[in-house]
This record gives sequence, C-alpha cells and structure tokens, in this order.
Amino acid sequence: MEKLVIHGGNKLCGQVSVSGAKNAAVAVIPAALLVNGKCRIENVPKIKDVIVLCDILSQLGAKVEYAGENVVEIDATDLAYHSAPYEMVKKMRASYYLIGALLGRFCKAEVAMPGGCDFGSRPIDQHIKGFEALGAKTKIKNGIITASADRLCGAQVYLDVVSVGATINLMLSAVLADGVTVIENAAKEPHIVDVANFLNVMGANIRGAGTDVIRIKGVRSLSGGAYSIIPDQIEAGTFMVAAAATRGDVLITNVIPKHLESITAKLVEMGAKVEEFDDSIRVSCLPPKTLHKANVKTLPYPGFPTDMQPQIVALLSVVGGTSIMTENVWDCRFQYIDELKRMGANIKVDGKVAVIEGVGCLSGSPVKATDLRAGAGMVIAGLIAHGVTEIHDLHHIDRGYEDMEGKFVSLGADIRRIVCGKK
Ligand code: EPU
Repeated sequence: MEKLVIHGGNKLCGQVSVSGAKNAAVAVIPAALLVNGKCRIENVPKIKDVIVLCDILSQLGAKVEYAGENVVEIDATDLAYHSAPYEMVKKMRASYYLIGALLGRFCKAEVAMPGGCDFGSRPIDQHIKGFEALGAKTKIKNGIITASADRLCGAQVYLDVVSVGATINLMLSAVLADGVTVIENAAKEPHIVDVANFLNVMGANIRGAGTDVIRIKGVRSLSGGAYSIIPDQIEAGTFMVAAAATRGDVLITNVIPKHLESITAKLVEMGAKVEEFDDSIRVSCLPPKTLHKANVKTLPYPGFPTDMQPQIVALLSVVGGTSIMTENVWDCRFQYIDELKRMGANIKVDGKVAVIEGVGCLSGSPVKATDLRAGAGMVIAGLIAHGVTEIHDLHHIDRGYEDMEGKFVSLGADIRRIVCGKK
C-alpha cells in the first residue's frame, strides 16, 4: 500500500502539461473493437483504467501494443470473444462501453455489471433502452448483462436523462447498424465529440456530436487509422484550482480552453486571474490577491463539471464567506466531506447541497481518497493546509491521473509517495 505525504503551504508556480483525457480514452479504446484493422491511438494517458481496459481487450482476443510513451495500437480484426466476465470488468465503470462495442461488432454481448467510483445508485437503464430501441433483447442475470439481436436497425432514441455513458454506448452500438439512429437529449461533453471523431476517422458517419441531437448513419465496416485523444478537461481543471488555491501562478499547457470555460468563469468570479491562449491557460492568484466565496451548481457540459466538485469545494473551504455547492448530477457525491472536516473544514451537507463556511486555513491530517476526484480534492486540501497531510487509498487517484504527484512536484509542491505496509 502507498500513501501521499504532503507538506502544505508551497505556492505552485511554473508550467505543467496535461495528459490525454481519461474519459475519452476509456471510450475510444473499446470503440477500437468495432474496427477491422489497426487503430493507432495517441495521447493516451498512462493511468490504471487504461491499463485495465487494454488488458481486457487483449483477453477478448484483440492485439494490443504499447507503441510509445502515450501510444496504444489496437487491432481487433481477429477478435474472438463477445463475453467479458466479472473478474475482467469489476475494476472499472467504463467497462460498460464493452456492451455497446461488442453488441455493435457481434450483435451479441455478455458483460458483467461494471464497478468504478461509488456515488450511490448508478443505473444503466438508458443504455439498455437504447440497445433495445436498436432491436436488441437484453437481460440482467447473475450480475451479467446480455444483449443480443439478429441484426441491429437504426432507431430514434430520446434519453430520459442526459447521460454521457448512454450517449457513447448508443453511438458504439449504432455505427455498424442498418439505417439511421438519432439520439435526442444526448450528452455534449468533449469526450463524446472525441469518440465520434475517432469513429469518423475510422469510417463511421456520425454527425451532431457536441449538440443534443446526434445522427448516426450505419456503415458496413470501419477500417484502421490514427487518432489523438483530446486533453483531459478535469486534469486541467484540477491544476487550475490548485494554482488558485495555493496563491500561485501556473501555465497549464496542452489544453483546449473552450472545454474549461465553466471552471475559468468560476475562478474569475472568485477573484483569480485566468488568461487563455491557443492551447494553454494561465491561472494566477499571487498575494495580495484574495479569493472569495462562490456558489457552484454542477451540471452536464457545458455546465460546471461534477468531476471538479471536490477540488473546488477544497478551495471554497478556505476562502472568505459562505459558499453553496449544489450537486445536480450524482445522488451521493459528498462522502469525501468528512475527510475535509478532519482537516478543519466547516461544511454542512443536506441532500444534494453542501454549505461551506470558509475557515481561513486547513490543518494537515491523515485522510483517504474516497473516490478518484475526491482524491484530487484531498491533494488540493493538503497543498493548502498547514502541516502534513497523508492521503491513503491512492488506487482511486491512480485510476485517472497520470503521474499526479510528479506534476505537482514540478510546480514546487512538497508531495511524496511512500510505501506504507501491506494491504
Ligand atoms: N443515469 C441514469 N440512467 C442511465 C445512465 C445515467 O439515470 O442509464 C444518471 C446517473 O445516475 C447520473 C446521471 O444520469 O445521475 C449522469 O450519469 P452519466 O451516465 O452521464 O455518467 P457516467 O457515464 O456513468 C461519466 C463519467 C463520470 C462523470 C459522469 C458525469 C466516464 C467513464 N465517467 O459517467 O466521470 O462523473 O459522466 O459527467 O466517462 C470521473 O471521471 O471521475 C467520473 C466519475
């Protein structure tokens, strides 16, 4: 087992480069199962979720090679299996994309119900509604979802909730179906556009990704090609908040500033300075500048991302005034607040609302990462706290951030990973 040890109080200054987007990579990699031929995928983040997913693809019979620092080549031409059992998929939520990809490829998929971060109930009814609209029969038995059809036919699907996963899964199952599929009330996150762009480069016909109506005209087959994953919006946002929180000055490179607008707007509202360039963004908040309270509501893109909620709450916990965080995407994403309270934060949670009284400063303490983004929030809390913070349960952070502590160290943070006994 490992833990992060942070001596708080250092300003972050300098330049840091953002890796490829986790939530795009974990969809593009299964999407390669639909392709006859080799897909070269660049700017792939080196994170646990990607390693697990690549391993699953190999076990399914795809050829998977790490062809460079952040490059993965996948050739699923001779894919052998349509079935991904529990032992394979239990470690990650995004394994649900295997259902759409295998269904699209073989008209048959058997995939165990996914694992991943625990935010309360995580239904997949909208994914299933979409598969059934395309003509698949589905059942869930003994923890396995089975979807099968003689053939898949395009259909019009209106999603009852704006769901990233259901939107992508439907695209995956529809690209090789007969006829046209229209997804209405689709999610608009940057990674949805990225998956559509990847599939289009491989020969698919998808229009409208990034709007709430996506049209997919089925094609006979996809063939190989090269594609580069977009930069990670949430990793970039994490550095933006960390720069402001430590009253530092950081240039964050390899970003798409447009994807960061809701985060930029909130930091500016709080008093930070944010400058946008073509593919970088600079956040500074050097003293005597101070930050003040803000109310934040998480929403699907282009709203403020739920995956930035713990990071901004860590910052709000030390600024002047009373802030209100309203979580509108997940039922239960405040588990980490007890950990922040150990560090002296004054936060009251009532249902989907957290009321945060700024306390001026936090004090270092042992805490755990209760999930991936909560872990990022605890790191920011540790960076601004007085004294030493130890963060346990790092496997959550390792699922989604490439070399997080290395990047923070390069900005001047005092943060070390140490081995702390066996699990
Ligand atoms: N929902 C349903 N039915 C469904 C699907 C979703 O009711 O069939 C509800 C969920 O319960 C939730 C809302 O719709 O209340 C949104 O869920 P969504 O399907 O959009 O989430 P997801 O696809 O499971 C992805 C990201 C999450 C991120 C959410 C929201 C991946 C692999 N995961 O999850 O990212 O929080 O979208 O933006 O893309 C993370 O990266 O830390 C992470 C958790």
